Amino acid sequence: MANSYFLKNSLTKKYWMAASGLFLCIFLLGHLAGNLQLLLPPEKAKDAFNAYALFMTTFPAVKILSYLTYFSILFHAFDGILLTIENNKARPVNYAYSKPSANSAWTSRYMGILGTAILVFLVIHLWAFWAGMHFRSIPTYALADGTIVKDLYSEVYNAFKNLPYVILYVVCMIPLGLHLSHGFASAFQSWGLNHAKYNNLISMTGIAFSVLVPLGFAAIPLVVYFMY
Ligand code: HEM
Repeated sequence: MANSYFLKNSLTKKYWMAASGLFLCIFLLGHLAGNLQLLLPPEKAKDAFNAYALFMTTFPAVKILSYLTYFSILFHAFDGILLTIENNKARPVNYAYSKPSANSAWTSRYMGILGTAILVFLVIHLWAFWAGMHFRSIPTYALADGTIVKDLYSEVYNAFKNLPYVILYVVCMIPLGLHLSHGFASAFQSWGLNHAKYNNLISMTGIAFSVLVPLGFAAIPLVVYFMY
């Protein structure tokens, strides 16, 4: 795969890194919008969230998007590792005087480490909720229309009544925000969208996205723990 046409040089690697990264940004927006239903009053949230989870796991178009999401995560991680190795190889070994911070923001130099932290979060997260929904037997719930579904709402609610878990989710949103704070704008640059007219707008949107999306995700466990 590493020698495939897609990853034949660092330009194409960066191009597909940007494509998979921006697709995952769209996923995060949809995922946040769906999960904000957890903040509805509990008596309403249980039915709404469980109906949403049923739709997300059964509606064919969404299932295709899910497979594209899984592929994008694996491809983004793999391509990211290749680029990190390539960058480290290209980086000169300690000049008498080398000040990396003079050349790039520290987030851009630690994208590999930030990405790894997000991957560790994802493994914990998918095992807890996604594997429960797809493979493990979890308690069921009857929707208002009588349909019996997996009670994913209670899985998430009970998890967020557990303080160490809440702290884990809140803390893990920091590497996500930092990764996005560089990744969003740099994706557009990798696509050659680098013009004085748009650069400011792209970087402002990137900063807003990298602050608001992780904050939104962090708010869910905090509100459930302290208010419900
Ligand atoms: C408060 C925060 C979050 C909550 C409550 C939450 C909840 C969930 C739930 C319940 C599922 C299982 C859905 C299903 O299988 O149908 C899920 C899947 C998933 N989550 Fe999250 N999530 C949160 C944050 C995140 C973040 C920050 C990321 C990425 C960095 C993420 C990435 C994913 C992915 C990739 C899946 C699999 C999606 C699919 O099957 O299509 N989640 N999440």
